[in-house]
Order: sequence, then structure tokens, then C-alpha cells
Amino acid sequence: MGFRGSHILSITQFERAEIEHIFSVADRMEPYAHRQRASKVLDGAILGNMFFEPSTRTRVSFGCAFNLLGGEVRETTGIKNSAIAKGESLYDTARVLSGYSDAIVMRHPESGSVAEFAAASRVPVINGGDGANEHPTQALLDLYTIKKELLSHDRTVDGLRIAMIGDLKYGRTVHSLCKLLSLYDNIKLVLISPKELQMPAEVVENLREAGHEVVVSDQLEENIQHLDIVYSTRIQEERFSSPEEADLYRGRFRLNQTIYTKYCEPNTVIMHPLPRDSRVAANELDNDLNENPNLAIFRQTDNGVLVRMALFALVLDVVDLVDKYSHDVRWYAGGRF
Ligand code: CP
Repeated sequence: MGFRGSHILSITQFERAEIEHIFSVADRMEPYAHRQRASKVLDGAILGNMFFEPSTRTRVSFGCAFNLLGGEVRETTGIKNSAIAKGESLYDTARVLSGYSDAIVMRHPESGSVAEFAAASRVPVINGGDGANEHPTQALLDLYTIKKELLSHDRTVDGLRIAMIGDLKYGRTVHSLCKLLSLYDNIKLVLISPKELQMPAEVVENLREAGHEVVVSDQLEENIQHLDIVYSTRIQEERFSSPEEADLYRGRFRLNQTIYTKYCEPNTVIMHPLPRDSRVAANELDNDLNENPNLAIFRQTDNGVLVRMALFALVLDVVDLVDKYSHDVRWYAGGRF
């Protein structure tokens, strides 16, 4: 694919070389995301940030990424605050908003809705999560993080050993991440979930067709040994018919420091797309892991800004202009990175 003017709707639209290109552009965004330099390359551009489903990090990090490149952000949050609540179609919404914006990020509770919206949009649309279907930019930031974490141990993504744990049926982040990993070689995936919440069969089939080893289990401890990454996920309560139905699965697979020390290799990296459910009944990733140096969850969220800046720079075709329209920051910006 060419990036200029393209929608980003599914991880399946990318070849491996394009993924590597996104990551190399993301690396170049570091001085801006880390507040050493400020760029005005998107001065005058407007992002329509349309979140029709709850979000903290995807919505805010997309907005920050656009701001860090010098652009402005206009937001709509929640269906009830938009004219969709009055019966307006996705087609009409897309025609209207693409007149106001230079790029649009959209999250929506229905699978396929962002693609439907993009078909009517006159500007590039990026999928910020469509129902249980896909979350392509989360998969990109996850793989970018995996790559960096492995590099610190002289490893590459090829040969990766990873467990995905939790609600693999409704978890769109793991769907996109599996599709992305199918572009790499010789991966071992251990898919740990309640039987009722297993990874969709076509995703597993796709991984096996790509030559990867896939283990499916409903047991945690015996399956998190000898791995590079354990990737925990939340029970996707919003996809169930009632909170009580989700309660049947909450708290089934809890990772804490005691279990980590007993079963995981000392360098196993702990990931989660967040939000983690820290309520007592769930607590899939315990707070007692917060000081564990292998807990990468906040490195993931920081990396999300780099990857999303890279996507905007690529889609709006300004990669080689970011540095030209930049200056040193004038404020105290130390300590965070
Ligand atoms: N990972 C993720 O999509 O988080 P938010 O729901 O907060 O955007």
C-alpha cells in the first residue's frame, strides 16, 4: 500500500516491509514525543477524533500525536452526544465530518462500522477500534513495544514466544496482534482463555497457515513458562449481554508477582493493552507487579504516541518535513522519558 491519503482500517492491509517502515518513522518521532523538539509540520490541519465508545489512551494519544505535529484536534465522544443518536447514518456523518477535518480517527461499537464510515469519507480514516473486530494501531504499538523489549535481550520478533491471556473472543487487540504476527516467522503462541472465550477459529487457522505453533488452553500456570511475553487482557464486559454474564469469567486468570516469580522466566515481559480491570473481582494484572522492571504496560502507552505520530506523518505525507518545521522546546520538559 502507499501511505499517502490511505485509510488505516485493518492490520491485514500491511506487508511486513510497511510495518518496518512505520516503526522506523516512529523512531524518528522520539525527540517530539519526548518534548526535546516541537514540530509545526501540521500547522493548520484538523483531526476529527470521533469516539463513539469509551476510551482513555487511544483517544488522548491520537489527539496528542496530532498536536505534537502542530495540528488541532476536534472531538466527539459518545453516541448520545452526536447526531447519530438522532438517526443520522454513518454515510452522512462521514460526508459532514470529512468536510471539517484533514484526517479522522474513529472508534465505534459495531464491527465493520469504521470501514463503512471510511467508504464515505473524503479524508483518511484511522480505525481506533470497531467492536470486537480490530484495533490495528494498538497492534502496531504492541509490536513496536515487543520489538524494543526483545532488542534489549538481543532477540527479534522472529522466533517470539508469547502467551495471550483472557478474553480472546471479544478482545480486538489480540485479534489484530495475531494477524500482525502472522507476517513474522517461527512464532509460538499460547492462547489461554475460558473455553467460551477462545480466539476466533479463523484467526487461529491463519496463524497455523503462516507456519506458527499455536497452543490453545484454559490453564494459566503451566502455560506461562518459557515465554518472552505474557500479554494479559481484560474481560470485555461491554460485549456481553449483562455484567453478570461477564462476572462468570472475571478473575479467572490473575497474574501477580508470586505467580510470575514461580512460573515465568526472569526476563519475561508483561504486557496488557489496558485498561486493566483493577477491581477486586477481576484484577487480571495485579498492582503488585507495578515495580517489576519487566512490566511494559506504560512503555506500551508511551510508544502509542510515537506510532500514532508516525501514522499521521505517513498518511498526510509530511515525514520528511517534520524536522524542517521544528524547534527546541522552550519549557521545562524533563524527567518523564
Ligand atoms: N487500549 C485501549 O484501546 O485503551 P482505551 O480503551 O483507553 O482507548
